[in-house]
Amino acid sequence: MHPMLNTAVKAARRAGSIITRASQNLDILQVRNKTHNDYVSEVDHAAEQAIIETLHEAYPSHAVLGEESGAVGEHGDFLWIIDPLDGTTNFLHGFPQYCISIALQHRGVLEQAVIYDPNRNDLYTATKGRGAFLNDRRIRVSKRTRLQESLIGTGLPFRDFAHIDTYLAMFKDMMLKTSGLRRPGSAALDLAYVATGWYDGFWEIGLSKWDIAAGGLLVAEAGGLVGDFEGNESWLATGNIVAGTPKVFGQMLQVLAPHLTVDLKTVELKTKA
Ligand code: IPD
Ligand code: CA
Ligand code: CA
Repeated sequence: MHPMLNTAVKAARRAGSIITRASQNLDILQVRNKTHNDYVSEVDHAAEQAIIETLHEAYPSHAVLGEESGAVGEHGDFLWIIDPLDGTTNFLHGFPQYCISIALQHRGVLEQAVIYDPNRNDLYTATKGRGAFLNDRRIRVSKRTRLQESLIGTGLPFRDFAHIDTYLAMFKDMMLKTSGLRRPGSAALDLAYVATGWYDGFWEIGLSKWDIAAGGLLVAEAGGLVGDFEGNESWLATGNIVAGTPKVFGQMLQVLAPHLTVDLKTVELKTKA
């Protein structure tokens, strides 16, 4: 395993034990409401701190972009992109679907990815050009070619309702043209499920870099395709993401196309920091 990936795995497992310990005592958690339906707990912060400390022990000069800390350090060649707890709403309700997501970008290119699911003790890893793994077993996207036979993951809007009508129109169309839709509540795990072939595709509007950086590399290394709603590269910058097996990806883009409003099209997209 690449030494940087190894460090990220150590960091993810440390965060995992903090989260698991806290999950046994949800009643005493301090929770704050950032904005409408946007909760953050002391666990999100403690897990992020543990991750940053572990990464910085090994690589003190690397910069970090963490959901809770924002940008830390001088942006040189290496940038770690961290979601210490993806699926906070689930976690706060005791719903066992959440994970830790850590990605490393080198000169703007995603090179390492770790997603750790502490409930199943499942570790997903990928290194650019070296494939994707679940607990050391090589994983690949599914062999499905027809959208009509596909199981597709998605994320429902719950904080920002700016695109709710567009989303519901996409949702209806997908519902009619697939085998079924799922919304478990952690975008990073959703992408990991595309990489393992449990889902045949996934789409969501307006995610953040830390939700999708690691999962995007996992899907690509598992032989899948990742893009924005027009199949282009801006998925990480815009957070509008489609991922799937090579054939299913194209069919998903066709379903989404009639619903793309101007601000969901690649050229018009305002890139998020
Ligand atoms: C959220 C989850 C969820 C997605 C949201 C994300 P958080 O992350 O990934 O599945 O629908 O848009 O913000 O806030 O729990 O880290
Ligand atoms: Ca997240
Ligand atoms: Ca989070």
